[in-house]
Amino acid sequence: MTLLFCSTSDNADRWVGELRKRAPNLEVRVWPEMGDPAEIDYALVWKPPHGLLAGLPNLKLIVSLGAGVEALLLDPTLPQVPLVRMVTDGLTLDMAGYVAMQVLRWERKLDAYAELQKAGRWEPLGHRPASEVGIGILGLGELGVASARTLASMDYRVMGWSRSPKTVSGVESFTGEEGLHAMLGQSDLLVCLLPLTEDTRDILNAELFARLPKGAVVINAARGGHLAEADLIPAIDRGHLAGASLDVFADEPLPPGHPFWAHPRIHVTPHIAGITHPSRAAETVVEAIRLFEAGQPLKNVVDRAKGY
Ligand code: GLV
Repeated sequence: MTLLFCSTSDNADRWVGELRKRAPNLEVRVWPEMGDPAEIDYALVWKPPHGLLAGLPNLKLIVSLGAGVEALLLDPTLPQVPLVRMVTDGLTLDMAGYVAMQVLRWERKLDAYAELQKAGRWEPLGHRPASEVGIGILGLGELGVASARTLASMDYRVMGWSRSPKTVSGVESFTGEEGLHAMLGQSDLLVCLLPLTEDTRDILNAELFARLPKGAVVINAARGGHLAEADLIPAIDRGHLAGASLDVFADEPLPPGHPFWAHPRIHVTPHIAGITHPSRAAETVVEAIRLFEAGQPLKNVVDRAKGY
């Protein structure tokens, strides 16, 4: 059994170590050193070059190092073998932590207090009780549900919008265009955790911002492609949105000089909201291979027609 690891954003040595510990019989090769392509059975990848996987004639299974697979699906030569998305508690809890951190940063006025500290000023600013703050989550997949639960446990009024209705305790479920509009009108903070598909591209746009209450905050931890970038700063500068926390961008790394870098009401992080930690995720990869070898149903298989 041979697995090809291909990612320029993940630590190959750590991955190889974690995989070896759990599957001593699995030979792991790290791209671009792949030897005979015909010997590769499995691929563990993040943004592999287009055509790389098509050149592996005996490939049986692809495991994505990321939860979002839109970049993989853009490869027109992607082999028609099962494709599994990364869903691990490490990534999911990271994401819930990021979302909670950003919500609290805005709601508990962390940045304002940092400024006051610099000025040596003791000045309580007050804040709304969590139960009076509406948080809308776009996308109630694994990441959306974990984030919703975390926020609900802090007593925020949490709502979620998804393709099909979802039952999550403490979370009000919305679907369809009407549901979206109803949720937006009550979302003091809006969190995007959708998969990126043709239906969701540019969903965070001027028209959507206008439906949010005045002073709302937008948090995007999904994909840069969800945000119509040119619409954000005008919505903030005219005072409709209070600001945004962005972890993902159309162009990554965010190019030097991009207006988001310097905007005082936009908080930028470098795509770190949910990380696939090798120590937590190697087991998921090994389990997918075991299930495949045993002819059992795989978990988190991507539906290529839906795009996630
Ligand atoms: C990261 O962005 C992922 O898709 O896991």
